[in-house]
Amino acid sequence: MKGVILAGGLGTRLYPLTYVTNKHLLPVYDQPMIYYPIKTLVKAGITEILIVTSGPHVGHFLGVLKNGKEFGLRHLEYAYQEKPDGGIADALSLAESFADGESVAVILGDNTTDADIKEAVSDFKEGAMVFLKRVEDPKRFGIAVFDEEDKTKIIRIDEKPANPQSDMAVTGLYLYDASVFDCIKGINPSARGELEITDVNNKYIKNNSLRWAELDGFWSDAGTFESLYQAGKFWADKTKKDTK
Ligand code: G1P
Repeated sequence: MKGVILAGGLGTRLYPLTYVTNKHLLPVYDQPMIYYPIKTLVKAGITEILIVTSGPHVGHFLGVLKNGKEFGLRHLEYAYQEKPDGGIADALSLAESFADGESVAVILGDNTTDADIKEAVSDFKEGAMVFLKRVEDPKRFGIAVFDEEDKTKIIRIDEKPANPQSDMAVTGLYLYDASVFDCIKGINPSARGELEITDVNNKYIKNNSLRWAELDGFWSDAGTFESLYQAGKFWADKTKKDTK
């Protein structure tokens, strides 16, 4: 399986920090944010990665990541998303030729986790797979809505719901088969003008081909001041504990 990291956008929620560089290159404790999703993919056995980026600081990625050799990557490729506010699914659509008919493990560049997704990656065959995590602030995420009778069945995902139907957030880690690219071609921009990954996932749900697992371990995005701080704190504490 190949890996795709979505690292575009303007990072407006982190102004003024993102005036100076792309959000995904800001520090989370002792490493640039994007190191974490790269390492998650490498740990899962993925050695070919595409980074989709956008915005005024795209050149900074090359300076930081170079050819990816330091991470043990065989191949590191970059794609440029013309509209930084086109949405996650728009960014993912740029990975079609890179994927070249293979399945892809997709991670949002501002998601950090110590979970191991190796087994899910090696067991994956078709359809889509999402990883859920219980959160305290469900209005901020894509939220899974479960069947009232079969509590393990997701019937829908609501993007940033005003009235969340559960506290299980869809994290920014996804596995998709190659049909995801046709699926993206069939969705329309949301009210906020973006091609939403949640609309893609809802299509897989309609086709009965979305599976889910609870993400085991720490997970946080780092796209707001509070989550950036919490993610940094987690990795600082963990690093200190591991080096004791
Ligand atoms: C995005 C997705 C959302 C998901 C979240 C995870 O939100 O749209 O469904 O729960 O990532 O980090 P965003 O961070 O773009 O607000």
